Amino acid sequence: MNAYVQHQVDPVVRTNLDFRLNEVPRFWFDNDPFRTRMFDALSLTFPVGERYFIQSVRALRDKITDPDLQQRVTDFIKQEAQHGLAHDKMNQEMQRQGMPVDQFVQFMGEHFEYILKHRSKQYNIAMTAAAEHLTALMAETFYSHKETLADVHPFVRALFAWHSIEEMEHRDVAFDVMKEVGEVSENLRKFALAFVTLQMFGFTFYRANVMLKHDGFSRLQRAKFALKGIPWFFGKSGKLSAMRQQYLDWFKADFHPSQHPVIRQYQVWVDTLAETNDPIEAGEAFWQAAQ
Ligand SMILES: [Fe+2]
Ligand SMILES: [Fe+2]
Repeated sequence: MNAYVQHQVDPVVRTNLDFRLNEVPRFWFDNDPFRTRMFDALSLTFPVGERYFIQSVRALRDKITDPDLQQRVTDFIKQEAQHGLAHDKMNQEMQRQGMPVDQFVQFMGEHFEYILKHRSKQYNIAMTAAAEHLTALMAETFYSHKETLADVHPFVRALFAWHSIEEMEHRDVAFDVMKEVGEVSENLRKFALAFVTLQMFGFTFYRANVMLKHDGFSRLQRAKFALKGIPWFFGKSGKLSAMRQQYLDWFKADFHPSQHPVIRQYQVWVDTLAETNDPIEAGEAFWQAAQ
């Protein structure tokens, strides 16, 4: 293990978790269409995005000589594959609600296929490591304060809780692959985070808007939603803005994801799942234990 690795938990592969998503109401975030569709739009990208992460890491796998990193890569791949399956179920629910899920997924699939083929392995691993930085920070910010997701349906909150736990467990795997065998320049590494952030939030907003249109909201209604809803994410005291410092740490030369502490109530989730074998209860306990 490198000297600069500080807080690390090992990835654990968990399978067949059921979040009963078919029982979740359409606007599961406080009956708020904008917030719900923003999270839906993000969730939509996971199955296809995570397949891209897996392929980016796989492309460099044969260069890894460290058996510990090899094992973490194996577990990373298995975890991301499980996330894909769970969020696919969420996609099916959105499709049932009349959302153009197939169109979105097809567009993203073609985009990822294109960059895997036409961009270098360096580019793809840098984009993956940067996206993982973002997902780990989102996991932290959405679950560190209880009030943030207080009005979210508990089943969805549990799905995102499990995903968050595993994003924290494997947050440095793609990063270590990039550092150890990726031969990624500092410039590319830094560019990747800026670019991936723009793409992730730009497309999330775009897709949320399209979905709200399919929900039947007029252009004016959607504009009002956005005006009211965006500050919750990006405003001065927005949930994502709260992660500004950790986000910027990426741009330091000696940055490593493990320099950030793992979320305080991590163990609560792990212990509750061990006790109850129920990911919904584990998610509930995890959320309850937040500040
Ligand atoms: Fe994931
Ligand atoms: Fe991940």
